Amino acid sequence: MKIAVNGVERVVEFEPDTPLLWVIRDELKLKGTKFGCGKGLCGACTVHLNGDPIRSCITPVSAVENQNITTIEGIGSEESPHPLQASWVEFNVPQCGYCQSGQLMSASALLAKNANPTDADIDSAMSGNACRCGTYPRIKAAIHHAAE
Ligand code: FES
Repeated sequence: MKIAVNGVERVVEFEPDTPLLWVIRDELKLKGTKFGCGKGLCGACTVHLNGDPIRSCITPVSAVENQNITTIEGIGSEESPHPLQASWVEFNVPQCGYCQSGQLMSASALLAKNANPTDADIDSAMSGNACRCGTYPRIKAAIHHAAE
């Protein structure tokens, strides 16, 4: 089946019910998207499907056929970071870092639709992304900064 990942069309062969997360990590070798709970609860595996955040651990690859997937590798680079990535660095957001690509994918989907989110907007958009290190205050500050 064909899927477009970070603007590149790819042909992948997997059982239709294979989680998208395994295709991204094991087939496409895009290791920025993380496995956390595997049950759609933690947000570590968040990617964009046509711009909307989804949990790739519970999304079968057949559900994204011929659609556009964006991973953390697709929103910016070291040379040209997404404004949120620059803000994440400036605010020293990560602690262990494991959940942060998922956090950034949810935050980038939010800012793409809402350029000036309130605290409540951020809480709502980010509520599905858990951080065991408790970086939530820095995440919120960094999102506000990137939106300025
Ligand atoms: Fe997908 Fe936790 S690994 S939501």
